[in-house]
Amino acid sequence: MDATPTERFARCIAASKRVRWEVETDVIRGRRFDVTTKFLPDGLTLTTALPSLTPDEKRYFSQVQGRTYANMFGLVERFINAKVLELSRDHWFGDQTALEALIRFSDEELKHQALFRRVEKLISEAMPTGYSFSWNPNDVAGVVLGKSSWAVLALTLHIELFTQAHYRESIRHDAELSELARDVFRFHWREECQHAIMDELEWRRVDAATTPQGRDAAVEELIELVGAVDSIVTAQAASDSRYFIATCGRRFDAAAAEAVQQTMLAAYRLQYILSGARHPHFAASLASMTTDAQRGRIHAALSGLAPMPMLNAA
Ligand SMILES: [Fe+2]
Ligand SMILES: [Fe+2]
Repeated sequence: MDATPTERFARCIAASKRVRWEVETDVIRGRRFDVTTKFLPDGLTLTTALPSLTPDEKRYFSQVQGRTYANMFGLVERFINAKVLELSRDHWFGDQTALEALIRFSDEELKHQALFRRVEKLISEAMPTGYSFSWNPNDVAGVVLGKSSWAVLALTLHIELFTQAHYRESIRHDAELSELARDVFRFHWREECQHAIMDELEWRRVDAATTPQGRDAAVEELIELVGAVDSIVTAQAASDSRYFIATCGRRFDAAAAEAVQQTMLAAYRLQYILSGARHPHFAASLASMTTDAQRGRIHAALSGLAPMPMLNAA
């Protein structure tokens, strides 16, 4: 027989206690980022789509993207944590196991934000000046939390599943990756496994109380949220490619600069949107809660974001 939600929350609590870590003593351990190593693997950065870059430039390309990768998590965890705290209210006088599990979830996301602020500070000491990540987490949270819980939980599950997929499928296996970067994403992954389970439990609980009309509106809100994520990654890809070109130590003509920017954008869309949307578990969860017509609307919105054909060879 399938486990009940309470039993699944109880397992999340047990796993959360088992894998618990601290930022300084477990993850950072007095280390600095080594700029002779990559900060993100090629499978995520799509550097192979830029054959004209030298090996040193490819490594630097991964460092710029790795810096943004850490900052993006710090950004989204602000609204994820607020939503988890808001949902925990529904359990205040009900399932105390669910309440405890969600409180731990929230505590972990606060710690993750502190970790990613620490990572940005350490990376900023190792890389040239001029990098910008100017998104205000509270402003972004204000926009996201204006949508229904159904839409926010769908977006959150997608994020917490791609976090795990990136670690398991590429970060874990890349021998040229910075040891510190790998540890940051490894420790983060260990706690995200429980978060994705809780996202889904809460999404299904919210879904069960949603009318067909409410769900149809929520699908539209999810599409708007994906559009908001795409606006952020499009602007960040433009900013990061300008920074890369200005600081990588040689001149790029207009065509080469355009290729850098297009690859960066394709990589960010892959990292932050498409790898989550295509995640089998996300697809199955979404399929179980939506109609064919609703999924058709979501797929139509995503189809405009697919990496450009010239990059598919990567
Ligand atoms: Fe996190
Ligand atoms: Fe999380």
